[in-house]
Amino acid sequence: MEKIVILTGAGISAESGLGTFRDEGGIWDQFDLSEVATPEGYARDPEKVLSFYNARRENAVRAEPNAAHFALARLDAVLVTQNIDNLHERAGSTGVIHMHGEVFGQFCNDCGEASDAPMIMSADAACTACGAEALRPDIVWFEEMPYHMDRIYAELATADLFVAIGTSGTVYPAAGFVQVARDAGVRTLELNLAPSEQGGVFHAARYGPASEIVPAWVDEVLGTG
Ligand code: APR
Repeated sequence: MEKIVILTGAGISAESGLGTFRDEGGIWDQFDLSEVATPEGYARDPEKVLSFYNARRENAVRAEPNAAHFALARLDAVLVTQNIDNLHERAGSTGVIHMHGEVFGQFCNDCGEASDAPMIMSADAACTACGAEALRPDIVWFEEMPYHMDRIYAELATADLFVAIGTSGTVYPAAGFVQVARDAGVRTLELNLAPSEQGGVFHAARYGPASEIVPAWVDEVLGTG
């Protein structure tokens, strides 16, 4: 079995009803990312940031995994996601690498103590370890370093195939993974609704809704088509 490394983005959860960020009318059309997804925004108005992620958490709980999530759970692959929802896990994937964090986690901005996030976070909640009212969702914001980067680059370097699914290829370092894979002699495949910003870099691509093209691709990989 060849080693496959997969990167997913918001597009894989679109058909589960979770908005994407950069499609027409997407989340960054509705909110100013500098106000809700940066350390400065949190420092300026923590309540606004927490209520933004309270809504994301609520949407993620209400959403259901779609056929693309369930198909990936059938693969023995390294699964890296930019998504903060838990739809991959709820579809049965294990060991998911959340490079942008998870909306169901929180940590204290003062002492770093991590814990499960309540459904509704509020700015006056105190850290159980140090007492500071400085709890933030366990999300990697713009200007912050994504999680697990050493592990991800090590997996990319030893892969046979890198597949990007449902991502616009606009946010680094994730957007650079396809070039890193190519430079390491790894075959690359894009599965997306439409060509992404990195579309021209991939060796191969298939376009269409993830709930259709991902199960078809997984069937080919597993020979169950
Ligand atoms: N099936 C497959 N792909 C889809 C579907 C679908 N049904 N719907 C949308 N897409 C594609 C879009 O064509 C687009 O290329 O999913 C991609 C979504 O792109 P973005 O909204 O930019 O989301 P993403 O690439 O995950 O954003 C990366 O940016 O804001 C930050 O931290 C945030 O993790 C996020 C990162």
